[in-house]
Amino acid sequence: MLAAARLVELPERHDDRGSLTFIEGGQHLPFSIRRVYYLHGTTPGARRGGHAHRELQQLFVAVAGTFDIELSDGDDARHFTLARPSVGLYVPQMLWRELDAFSTDAVCLVLASEHYGEADYFRDYDDFRNAMLAPHATVKEAE
Ligand code: TYD
Repeated sequence: MLAAARLVELPERHDDRGSLTFIEGGQHLPFSIRRVYYLHGTTPGARRGGHAHRELQQLFVAVAGTFDIELSDGDDARHFTLARPSVGLYVPQMLWRELDAFSTDAVCLVLASEHYGEADYFRDYDDFRNAMLAPHATVKEAE
């Protein structure tokens, strides 16, 4: 799953009024959009994330400002800095994420493949790591 995370160039239209960027589900990202949320007013030094999702796929966009995202599959990690409204980071399911280094003006837009559901979260890193090591055991527990 870590290799499937990728930066996505989003289409931009520029004219003398400024710029417009658009995102279409199934076109610029490999899922249909069921939810949109955004992080804003982030306090200095704040860290967000600190969890993984069982099924959720997401696209993160720095529509204003900058921030960092680290993705981990429990063994390896990849680090991204988002700093342009025309670039999104596609994050597939089952990756631990940590967001930090938010600039004071940062707005992190997130497009998500599912409605909000707490049952989709791994909030404990050891639980996530165990699920990555023995995915079938987790499926049995969930049944
Ligand atoms: P959380 O996912 O922990 O935020 P982050 O990923 O930025 O660390 O969510 C913070 C709170 O907001 C938590 O109480 C759940 C709630 N929440 C919703 O109710 N709906 C949503 O779509 C999201 C993303 C969070």
